[in-house]
Amino acid sequence: MTDAADPFFEAYNRDDIAYGETPAPGVQSIIDLSASDEPGQLHVLDLGAGAGRDSIALARAGFCVTAVDLSEMGLERVNQRAVAAGVGEWVTTQTADVREFVFAPGRYDAIIATTVLDHIPSADAVIVWKKILRSLTQTGLLAVEVHSSEDPGSDLPPGCDSTAPKSETAGAVVNYFPPNQLAQWATETSANLRILRYEERLEWDYTHGPEHMHGKASLLAIRKGNFPDWYGQPRLFPRRES
Ligand SMILES: C[S@@+](CC[C@H](N)C(=O)[O-])C[C@H]1O[C@@H](n2cnc3c(N)ncnc32)[C@H](O)[C@@H]1O
Repeated sequence: MTDAADPFFEAYNRDDIAYGETPAPGVQSIIDLSASDEPGQLHVLDLGAGAGRDSIALARAGFCVTAVDLSEMGLERVNQRAVAAGVGEWVTTQTADVREFVFAPGRYDAIIATTVLDHIPSADAVIVWKKILRSLTQTGLLAVEVHSSEDPGSDLPPGCDSTAPKSETAGAVVNYFPPNQLAQWATETSANLRILRYEERLEWDYTHGPEHMHGKASLLAIRKGNFPDWYGQPRLFPRRES
């Protein structure tokens, strides 16, 4: 894809790569919940992986990662970062539209979608969401984050009335989620999910471009019927190192 066709090319081409290296909070929880002795045993799909902050953290934690994104520049960064971190063998990249990606049924122990379902029209997002659900194992974990209608880049109120600064890449977001929408999806019986954490929040973002505000909804869920040994809000209630 040419840089003109990739709205994220410049953000991923800088020395100071956009979005930094800290994984999204739900991704850190998946790492905490999924300690495995054998690297490469658990498979995770990172949809809209970008430059790989989530993919690399997961690979370092021993996951076998498939990173999917439209941005070739982003995936080039994922590969560079994976090699630099010594986890190149655990990361596979695929340049694809998440709407075209072939989701194998019951394939992934965890699926990540950090701000990508909001980059496609809502009717498409529903279809991809259903494919995600079918592709998760019966013990699988799911971390999804989307921009909400409170984001200053939103075309919906109250975000569209906000005077807070908006993101340099706000133009790529086409589907701002109204309050509770992501939670509603996750609580539908057919989703077969159990919510471990759900949050809607306003946050400041200093990881790329001029500082700006975001409205976000974020979901951490597991398949219904599963009871992890421990889980919690990572920053407020950390587990003591043994
Ligand atoms: C805001 S960035 C988030 C990147 C990464 N998940 C993170 O949190 O650092 C959104 C990403 O979604 C990708 N994206 C947007 N629409 C997409 C689509 N239809 N299929 C695949 N990737 C897409 C963009 O290229 C971009 O890398």
